[in-house]
Parts: sequence; structure tokens; C-alpha cells
Amino acid sequence: MASLVLTIRETLRYRGAVGQWSWVLHRVTGLGVVLFLILHVIDTSWAVFYPSMYEHAIKIYQSPLFTLGEFALVFCVVYHAFNGLRIGIMDNRPELWRYQDRAAYIVLGATVLVLVPVFIGMGLHVVDHYQEPVNNLPLTEVLISQLPFAAGMGAAIIGALILSAIYGVLMGSEKATVSAKHSGSPIERFWWNFMRISGLLIIPLVFGHLAMMHIIQGVFDITAAGYPVVGVPQVGQALTDGSVVIGNGWNDAGSAVEFVAERWTYAIAGVAIWRVYDIALLILVTLHGFNGLRYVLTDYTMDKPLLRRASVIVCFIGALVLLGVGGGALLGSIEPTAIEQAKHAMRAVSMAGQ
Ligand code: HEM
Ligand code: HEM
Repeated sequence: MASLVLTIRETLRYRGAVGQWSWVLHRVTGLGVVLFLILHVIDTSWAVFYPSMYEHAIKIYQSPLFTLGEFALVFCVVYHAFNGLRIGIMDNRPELWRYQDRAAYIVLGATVLVLVPVFIGMGLHVVDHYQEPVNNLPLTEVLISQLPFAAGMGAAIIGALILSAIYGVLMGSEKATVSAKHSGSPIERFWWNFMRISGLLIIPLVFGHLAMMHIIQGVFDITAAGYPVVGVPQVGQALTDGSVVIGNGWNDAGSAVEFVAERWTYAIAGVAIWRVYDIALLILVTLHGFNGLRYVLTDYTMDKPLLRRASVIVCFIGALVLLGVGGGALLGSIEPTAIEQAKHAMRAVSMAGQ
């Protein structure tokens, strides 16, 4: 805690130094995306495991609070990506270090340059959506539906503390004085390189994912009936008689589950390309995000062995849960009955919003 206070105090003290601010912003944006990722992977898995809950989750994504959050999320991803690139380049080119300040401004400029057209594209979807009367879920329902996630995270933290305490009792107390990032062991060297290489690979994957979900399709059109599904070729016309076909590239029923089913079923030469894409995204962002979270948590618990071990354990648990749940969903299949269930849930969700 003292280190956290120190970070904030020193940042304020050196408020003129752009490098200090970009370090804080990199950290805050990385943590913001990790938080979103936890919710997102768990609720995406419901498309397979609990279709009716997935319908509700997407309705929450379409609520005004989450719409605002999506703009913030896109800012976080874009800034963090460009700043991560800057860090990677600077690490390999010490001769550029004297241009640190200029580079930090270039990152800010590039972020603004990308975000202006992106926010216009996202904003147009929002304006379009609110042209007609909308049944938004009440804010209290949106907030209450996030409580199980908070409880899950709380349970993971308590579990990690208990495991850390047991380890401490069995192995004897040890004094930890360095942060994970600076320990210099071969394992840490591996993670240091992994953060840079995975960051590079994540850029096209996450930018492509966001372009599909926010600009080309738009979050509101994930549940638009008779709408083409992004990234999948359309065959014939959308069905309007209440029936559903998976594999025609249309979201016939306007169900979020059907949207995912269309994408995950589409195959080129027998390869379900969007599943492969999502698996790569899942593995890279989970390992990168939770290792980043470990850096942050261990930075603030350097001289407290119990908390430091608990930090590592909680990141390990988090990554394992996301890879298990997300991977399980990506390997599962969405049965036609799931879309029937989702259609019923959709009606219930729309009634709740009225
Ligand atoms: C979009 C491409 C991305 C790039 C280029 C990138 C790059 C980087 C780099 C270079 C670091 C510094 C690592 C170090 O200090 O050794 C880092 C840290 C971090 N990244 Fe990323 N990253 C990206 C995406 C993500 C995503 C999607 C998440 C969340 C799931 C994330 C979360 C974090 C966190 C929490 C940290 C630790 C920040 C700190 O130590 O202050 N990053 N990233
Ligand atoms: C609000 C913005 C977002 C929306 C609306 C969205 C939407 C979706 C949808 C509909 C899927 C289902 C699969 C598919 O159709 O490909 C999905 C899967 C996925 N998304 Fe996103 N996404 C968003 C942001 C992000 C971000 C920022 C990340 C990474 C940090 C991300 C990572 C993933 C991953 C890893 C999966 C696969 C999940 C699984 O394993 O089941 N998404 N997303």
C-alpha cells in the first residue's frame, strides 16, 4: 500500500514529466483491459454453456453505461497498444532513449489520430440505435448483474491469500525484496520477452476483433434480426418465418447466440477460422494480461512475502480460469436448441427493459 501511495505521490510531484504520465497511463489502461477481459471471456462462454444468460449479457453490453465503457475500453486498447510498441522499440534501441519525451507525444498523437475516425464510426452506430425507441435494462439491473463477477474475484483473492499463508507456514517466511519484473532470472527474462512479442501479435488480433464488433457490425447489431453476420459470407436471404439456419451467414432470429454460432461454424477448408482466431486471441491476451497484472501487484507488495505470493497465485488462478472457461467454450458446440432457448430469453429480456 505504501508503494502505491508512493507511486501516486511521485507521479503528482513529477507532473511535468510526460514519461511518468505515460507509464501510469500504460498501467491503468492495461489493468482496465484485464478487468474487461475477465467479464468478457466468462460471459462469452455462456453462448455455449448458458445461452439465455448470454442474451442477457449482450443486452447489458448495449446499455448506456456499457456503451460509455466501450468507448473507454477502445481508448485503453489503442493507447496501450501504441505505448507498448514504443516500450518495445525503445528497449531494443538505446540510442533512441534521448527521444523518450518526443516518443511519448507521438504515441498520444497516434492514439488521437486513430480514435477520431473510430469514435465517429462507433458514435454513428449509437446514434442509429437511438433513432428508434429503445428498451434499455434499468441501471440497477446492469450493476447488480456484475456482482457475481465481483464475488468471484473476491473468492479468488481470498483463496490466493489462504494458499499463500499455507505455503508460508510450510516453507518458512522468506523476505521478498524485488519485483517480478526486476528479478533477472531466466524465467523473468522469458516473460519480459513474452510481453513484447505477445504485444506485437495481439495488435492485429485485437484491433481486428474490435473493428468487427464495434465498427463493421456494431454492438447493437449483434442482436439485429435479419442482419448479416460480420466475417461470414451470406447465402441466400435471411429467414423471416421464425426459423433459424446456422451456416447461412444471417442472424435470422436476431439472437446473440446465433451470431456467435454463425461465426464459430464458418469454416474455410475445414478450418473454423473465427474459432482459431479467438483461441489465439484468448491465449495471448490472457497470458499477457495476467502476467502484466502480476507485475503490477508484485511491484506494490515487494517487501510483504505473504501478499507477494498471493499476488502471483491470484494471477495464476485468474489465467487458469479464463483459459479453462474460454477454451472450453471455444471447443464446445452451439446446438440449434440453444438458439431456441436464447430466443425465449430474448423475449424475456426485452420485456424486462420495457
Ligand atoms: C494491443 C497490444 C499490446 C501491446 C503492444 C502491449 C504491450 C505491453 C508492453 C510492452 C508492456 C510492458 C511489459 C514490461 O514492462 O515488461 C505491457 C504491460 C502490460 N500489459 Fe500490455 N500490450 C498489449 C495488449 C494488452 C492487453 C490486451 C492487455 C490486457 C488484457 C494488457 C495488459 C497489460 C498489463 C496489465 C501490463 C502491465 C503494466 C505495468 O507493468 O505497468 N496489454 N504491455
Ligand atoms: C465491447 C467490446 C467487445 C465486443 C462487443 C466483443 C464481442 C465478442 C463476441 C461477440 C465474441 C464471440 C466470438 C466471436 O464472435 O468471435 C467475442 C469473443 C472474444 N473476445 Fe471480444 N469483444 C469485445 C472486446 C474484446 C477485447 C477488448 C478483447 C481482448 C482484450 C476481446 C477478446 C475476446 C476473446 C479472447 C474472445 C473469445 C472468448 C472465448 O474464449 O470464449 N474482446 N468477443
